Amino acid sequence: MNDTENQTVIDALCVAYGMELETVQNYIANSVHLDGVRSDVIKKALAADVTEEVQHAQQIAHRIKTIGGKVPGSLSLTPSQHGLQPPDDTTDVVTVIRGVIAAEEAAIAQYQKIIALCDGKDYVTQDLMIQILGNEEEHRREFIGFLKEYER
Ligand SMILES: [Fe+2]
Ligand SMILES: [Fe+2]
Repeated sequence: MNDTENQTVIDALCVAYGMELETVQNYIANSVHLDGVRSDVIKKALAADVTEEVQHAQQIAHRIKTIGGKVPGSLSLTPSQHGLQPPDDTTDVVTVIRGVIAAEEAAIAQYQKIIALCDGKDYVTQDLMIQILGNEEEHRREFIGFLKEYER
């Protein structure tokens, strides 16, 4: 992998790192924000996922450092999760579920992109991305299941 290609991977990892941290912020917020009996399972699932998303951020930060990049501070990160802002109606569980699915889909797309960038060139980054991709696919599946029930 030449320097330009490596920098492209670092930049893409920095985006993924920011997405993980934004997910943590919004999962914490929504896991506390929602009210009502119907929100209980969702709040617990979000609170439980926070640990895993923090771990993803830490793994990505280590990889950025290892391949010669600088881990960005908060001021260098650009938020983008419009769909995951805590809703005005604190009983609007469906909006939160949809926001989670959208965030997981964005993460999946970013990991797929990095996997392709690394193909045949950076196996270690690619392996890490494949592991995290599998986790995000499980999260998405869990919330698609919730949506099925809550939309009935
Ligand atoms: Fe994650
Ligand atoms: Fe996730």
